[in-house]
Amino acid sequence: MKAKAVKMADGVYWVGVIHWHSRTFHGYGIPGTTYNAYLVFGEEKTVLIDNVYRGMFEQFDARVKDAFEQEGKDFKIDVFVQNHSEMDHSTFLRETIAKYNPDAEIYASANCIRFLEAQYHNFSDLEINAVATGDELDIGGRTLKFVSAPMLHWPDSMFTFLAEEGILFSNDAFGQHVAHSKRFDENYDTEYLLREAQKYYANLVTLGSPMLRMKLDELTNSGLLEQIKMIAPCHGQIWKNPAPIVEKYSEWGSGVCKDKITVIFDTMHHSTEKLAYQIAEGIMSEDVEVAMYFMQEDGPDDVITDILDSKAIALGAPTMMNKPFPRIGNMMYWLDCVNFKGTGSEKNALIFSSKGWGGGAIAKLQRDLGEAGFTVTDTLDVLFVPDEDVLAEAFEKGAALARSIKE
Ligand code: FEO
Repeated sequence: MKAKAVKMADGVYWVGVIHWHSRTFHGYGIPGTTYNAYLVFGEEKTVLIDNVYRGMFEQFDARVKDAFEQEGKDFKIDVFVQNHSEMDHSTFLRETIAKYNPDAEIYASANCIRFLEAQYHNFSDLEINAVATGDELDIGGRTLKFVSAPMLHWPDSMFTFLAEEGILFSNDAFGQHVAHSKRFDENYDTEYLLREAQKYYANLVTLGSPMLRMKLDELTNSGLLEQIKMIAPCHGQIWKNPAPIVEKYSEWGSGVCKDKITVIFDTMHHSTEKLAYQIAEGIMSEDVEVAMYFMQEDGPDDVITDILDSKAIALGAPTMMNKPFPRIGNMMYWLDCVNFKGTGSEKNALIFSSKGWGGGAIAKLQRDLGEAGFTVTDTLDVLFVPDEDVLAEAFEKGAALARSIKE
């Protein structure tokens, strides 16, 4: 197949792949994605940074060849840099090394070296150089600086900084799961890209928020942050203007939230739905933003995205056989996984439920939300169908929750 490499700077190319029809990525919905890899031509050495996912080798290989043809260089890669071992960035590393230079130098973090072997079981015969923050590689007129970035996204994650061009190859950090025909941020609306980046951060990076804060401080104090002119992540668009995404990462990673409440509900016979609608009206009456999700239709990944910058949630599930309606469970597991508490934000929660017998949903959700780091500040437990008095109570509880986040 043929595929064109995209020039990012003199001797620097995007050679990744576009996975146009991918609709899920380890459990959450995406509108397609890209697996970005990069070729950097130094005067002495040609470097490949990262690799691509299964089923994508032909597209990747065609783009690598095109970059060599654009540069008029022989097809030989001297150095492989692997910033992270997860399969979407490493599936064909071994094959690419075999094809383009079995004697190439290889660089990765110590954890990445271990993780590659544990996933593929065919790396132990290769000599891979372990690098960390402070290590550099001269490729002839150009310098690669390695920056350890554990938990952004895995314990093995690393950034590689091309010093002369000011390009940070950040792997998963600063990415977005989108699939478009053009490669740079400037080709698309910034607010749209930041929303996709928020979904990506909320679902994949939130757990690493304490490490992100430390990393941003480190990059600021070392002066590297101000040298970054472009951020080239491993998913989605390349940031020619890195300021907006760096600012957003700083906010998301330190728990900066809006006057916004995410309302999440499921329903059996429309009673819990009525409560959700009234609670939303109460919230809106206090001029606080509402994001509303219905768990029969909406994905937990979108719920998580909005909770990231919400100061509170209102969570409703009917009671079924003394427990919360099971369909809410998937979302609850996601909440527990991502650990919003790590961002430093303190999120309150209102729980509501319609029951037919003795109840039980509220107590279970209260325990689960507590374990997920939320503070349950109020509950509303309703027998069967809410009447006008109960609906008024729901409205007031929504309004009270809204007032509480503005205090
Ligand atoms: Fe895009 Fe952690 O892999």
